[in-house]
Amino acid sequence: MKVEILSILPGLLRSYLQEGMIGRAIRESRLKVNLRYIRDYATDKHHMTDDTPYGGGPGLVMKAEPLANAHNAISKNKSSRTIFLTPQGKTFSSETAKRLAKYKQLIFVCGRYEGVDQRFRDKYVDEEISIGDYVLTGGELASLVVLDAVSRFIPGVLGNDQSAECDSFSDGLLEHPQYTKPREFEGMEVPEVMTSGNHKLIKIWQHEKSLAKTREIRPELYEQWVKDNPPQPQKKKRKRH
Ligand code: 6GU
Repeated sequence: MKVEILSILPGLLRSYLQEGMIGRAIRESRLKVNLRYIRDYATDKHHMTDDTPYGGGPGLVMKAEPLANAHNAISKNKSSRTIFLTPQGKTFSSETAKRLAKYKQLIFVCGRYEGVDQRFRDKYVDEEISIGDYVLTGGELASLVVLDAVSRFIPGVLGNDQSAECDSFSDGLLEHPQYTKPREFEGMEVPEVMTSGNHKLIKIWQHEKSLAKTREIRPELYEQWVKDNPPQPQKKKRKRH
């Protein structure tokens, strides 16, 4: 997948893209990310990317022209999607991440200030995404959040033994607790079943913990899970004589 990120503060993005799973995916050429500095595409002598809003009011609005120039400079793929990160967008989810992972090219547009000229949004943007109901100082963090979640659905980005399909939210439940060595930590033991070696019992225990945790922390997710997973009709046990 090829990704373009349009930003007036590309330095905010650079270090995140160099490390961890995303850094590795880029080094292994599973993912290509190009940071485009919007100021480079401003044509006036001060390279202005923002200006005062028509109609007055506080703050500045990002100009359409530098954004359009930056967007037009990108060589487009057949399967390309332009995403504007904004608190006015649809709330991001695991389903959206999975859907976006199917494109060959994603173009993220990061806003700053009070907003972006509506004409750029109308003509160049395919969809608008928010990462939650709060306001950030700009779309840069949000673009990293979306890219990170999307990249986990690109084949080969996660290790072989991991799978985005097995995560929380893929089955609609929160994860069960995890333990590692040592067996005793500050007086607390690992639950006995987890060291029993009985894989069937372990699975049942983990599933029960997942259900209980989801019910407590995210009741709406729990209700949905119950609807999607009606109890299986129990096979009648044959009496053994
Ligand atoms: Cl995508 N951008 C900004 N600036 N703030 C946000 C957001 C995005 N999502 C939630 N808050």
